[in-house]
Order: sequence, then structure tokens, then C-alpha cells
Amino acid sequence: MKKIILVLTISLLFSNCKTNSKKEKITGLITEKAMVVSAREEASKIGSDILKKGGNAYDAMVATQLALAVVYPVAGNIGGGGFMVYRASDGKTGALDFREKAPLNASKDMYLDTEGNVIPGKSSFGIHSVGVPGTIAGLFEVYKKFGSLPFKDLIQPAIDMARNGFKVTSKQAKALNRTRKLFEKANNYKVLFDKEWKKGDLLKQEELAQTLERIRDNGQDGFYKGKTAQLFVDYVKELGGIISLEDLEKYKAIWRKPIEFNYKNHKIISMTLPASGGICLAQILKSIEPFDLTKIAHNSSKYVQLLTEAERRSYADRAHYLGDIDFINVPIDSLIATSYIKKRMNSFSWDKATKSSEVSHGAILGHESDQTTHYSIVDQFGNAVSVTTTLNTGYGSKVLVKGAGFFLNNEMDDFSAKPGVPNVYGLVGSKANAIAPEKRMLSSMTPTIVEKDGKLKMVLGTPGGSTIITSVLQNIINIVDYKMGMQESVNKARFHHQWLPDNIRMEPNGFDSTTKDNLKALGYELVERNSLIIGRVDAILLLPNGKLEGGADPRGDDKAVGF
Ligand code: GLY
Repeated sequence: MKKIILVLTISLLFSNCKTNSKKEKITGLITEKAMVVSAREEASKIGSDILKKGGNAYDAMVATQLALAVVYPVAGNIGGGGFMVYRASDGKTGALDFREKAPLNASKDMYLDTEGNVIPGKSSFGIHSVGVPGTIAGLFEVYKKFGSLPFKDLIQPAIDMARNGFKVTSKQAKALNRTRKLFEKANNYKVLFDKEWKKGDLLKQEELAQTLERIRDNGQDGFYKGKTAQLFVDYVKELGGIISLEDLEKYKAIWRKPIEFNYKNHKIISMTLPASGGICLAQILKSIEPFDLTKIAHNSSKYVQLLTEAERRSYADRAHYLGDIDFINVPIDSLIATSYIKKRMNSFSWDKATKSSEVSHGAILGHESDQTTHYSIVDQFGNAVSVTTTLNTGYGSKVLVKGAGFFLNNEMDDFSAKPGVPNVYGLVGSKANAIAPEKRMLSSMTPTIVEKDGKLKMVLGTPGGSTIITSVLQNIINIVDYKMGMQESVNKARFHHQWLPDNIRMEPNGFDSTTKDNLKALGYELVERNSLIIGRVDAILLLPNGKLEGGADPRGDDKAVGF
């Protein structure tokens, strides 16, 4: 029965998009000045209210992130990490890395048994999967550099919502109920989420409210030192984990130079390593740039084929070359050089699918070497921030810090536990992404900003593990090449290829049978599962008349709020 309802919901989602695109144009929320689009209405509203009070996009980022940590515990977090890309009103750009890192006591083979085999689940579930969280350090780094309102005003709405509760949505109740057994397995006490939830239940989190109060009163030290840190480390010890007080004290968010490149007269600004998003996006968009997409129908077999072949080659490079640039040398410039991309695409043929087994990483001359969440913000001053943040999979490690009320990530699974062995997203890696103490694990997060003619055009990003990059990609193409509106673009059915496994994942009912038959005839293996949802894109488009259009993904409870 559940399955039937899901199929119907997803069918309606896409059939609705199709019908509407023929009859009337789908349009998202349009506002005059400012907007926040996030995974939950409550969080978007809290961010938007901060903007209304005169706060800027960076203030709204702090408030939205903290609100999501309360109202969207599946991925919104203080026990995880993420990345932020900004474009200030004067056109200056930058990026912040608040990715989790491996504990000081981590080691390359920590997830292998005595025979050198990966121990199933150890890197992705429970206390051993936890990386040192970066979110709170990230928020304070942003606040120190750009914040304008008092910090207590930014965090108080989250504290109040944690204490007074919020109403659980139907999707949220299902996700919580699905995870109940895992909460029990990961913890040594009954966590507050461990009950049968239904739509409309009030979820109050008093321990989380108190943790947020310590952060309000003591700043970053309210998380990385003092009572919160002690509760965190004590519980880690109780469960046999390795994160120490020293790990927490040493954590630092790092400002980085974003990846910037041009695609068809647009400037794309995206995240750099340890997030692979910007590099892969550059590689894939540059691979398809020589093709005139106006002659190729959207989501037709030719369209899917072209993007798939570009994605295949890029993800093969990702697996071989990419990791934390503070630990390894990555030839970023060579990997995104037009001449290199051209060579990589030489083997592409419209006549048949390339086999991933025949595509390894490219040769670089001179080489020295499902659950995340995204929010987009544009303020009334013209500043834009694009933030993707995560616990990794839903509710991360499922470990809820006893006495402190927040979930810990399971980000250690984003490392390559052993070369060639896939992680939960089916991604393989090499020694570039091997575990080392204090190293940051490779990410697919792709918070992105697009500029046209020196002006802000779009802010976007999405959750979705390995599919993050290709969802952002398809939305950039929807806007740049197919001239869609923001909501129309976000609603479109998506597909994904990541080199290995060698198949195209497609959202159900979004691709017609001719498209699928053509692709199969060319040798592509298609995976179309009823429940498959690829990303939940939250984005903002600047319209030619200067107004903002929000794209809030109907695949989730996402919502745009602004004024
Ligand atoms: N944890 C998903 C990612 O960072 O790619």
C-alpha cells in the first residue's frame, strides 16, 4: 500500500510538471528583494525574518542553519559539517569549508579486518563512523567576518523552536519511523526520537535547546569546549569511539578559493576541495559546452547520453585524483583545462555507450601528485550565499549525544576505506581519499552561484550524496540552455551517472519510453526505481525585472520564503 501511494505521489509530481509545462508556466514564489529557500518552511521563515529585521544573508545563514538543526534533524545539524559559497553585493566571492575531519586517532586501515577486508557498516553507522564536526565553527567563522546583528538574535529562534516544539510533517514521520531500529542499535539509551511518529505530532528537544543556549552564551566554545564537549566526548567513550576533547578543541573552519569557470557566457562559482562539486561541475559543463543543446530536446535520449558520457569521465577522475588538498596534491587546473576535457571526450560516440570498464581516469601531464541539505539565500543588499550541510546519510551515525540532544554525523564513510571498495553511495576512491588523522573526507557537495554579465543570476544546490553534482548540473543547464524558470527547472525529472556502477539512475515517470528504448539500444543500463528521488534542489533565480524566483523542491517539504 505504502509503495502504491509513493508511486502515485511521484507520478503526480512529474505528470503535473509535464501537463503544466504545456498549459501554463510553473512559477515559484516571486519576491521583490530577498529570499531564503530551505528544506523546511520554519527554517526559511526564520532566515527571512532575520533579513526583514535588517540582517544580511550571512546572518540569515546562521539563523537558517541553526533552525534546520532543530526542525530538520535528518540532515540539518550542529553535529555535522558543510560548505558555503558566497557572492557579496560588490561581486567579491569566497568559500568556506566547515567539513568534518578525521579524528587524531584515525588511521588508514581503521575500517579493515585482520585480513584487510572492509568491515561492513563500520564506516557508515554508529560511533565509529563519526568525523569531528565543523558546523558550529563554520557558523562562527561566517559571523565573525560578515555578521551584522547580535548573535543571540540569530540563535534564539532555534532555541525557542527546540524548547517549544514544532509539528512533524508526514514525510518526516515516515523517515523517523523507518530509522527507529537504527536509533536503538546505535545508542545505549532510549533516544527521544525512538517512538512511533505521525503527522502533526509536536517534537520538542529540551536537551538540544540547552546545547544551543550554551552556544548562545559561550560562542564557539559552547560547542567545542565546556559542558557540550564533555557530554560529547563522554558519550563517545561510553560507545567505544575515538573522538577526544583535543579533536574538538583543534577543529577549524577554513576559507578557500572557490572554483570559478565560464559556461556559455555565464560565470559559475562553486565549491573546491575537499568538495568535489566544483571540479566535477566544471569538467562536465566544459565537456558539453561545444554541443548546441537548443538542437537537442530536454531529457531526450541524446540529452541523457551526452550528459552521461561527460559524467562518466568526470566521476572516473574524481575517484582517482580528488581528496583533501591540504593533504595531497591535486592538479585542479589541469583537470578543468579545456584541452584536457576535449581529449577526454574524444572517445565519445553518439553510436554507442562507452563502457565504464574502458574509461579510467585521464592522464594528466605534470601531475605531482541520502541525506544532506541545502539552502540558498539572497538578501535585500544583493549578497548571496549557497550552503550545503550534512550529517551524511539520514540522521548521520544515528548516535544522539546523551544529554546534549544532537545527532553525530557518519561522514567517515566519505573516505575511501579501501581503494576500489564502494561507499554507501557506490562511489569508489583511491589513496587520494584515504583516511589520515585530521584529513577531511572527499565530498560531492556543490553549493553554487551563477553570474551573468557581472551580475548575480542564480544561487543553487542540493542534497543527494553522489547525485548532488549531477542535480546541480542539470539545473544550471535547464536555466542557461533551456531558459526555464526556477521552479520549473527544479521540478523537472533528473537522472544520474557516476562512472561506477555503470548505469543511469532515472527518476520514475520523468522519461518517455522512446527515450528509454533508445538508450537501451545504445547499450546503456537504466535503473528506474519507483522510490528513486534524485536530490532536493533549493534555488533562487534573479529574473530580468530584478525580482527573485524561488525553486523549492517538491520532492521534500522544501519552501521558499521572502519579501
Ligand atoms: N556526505 C555526502 C557528501 O559530502 O558528498
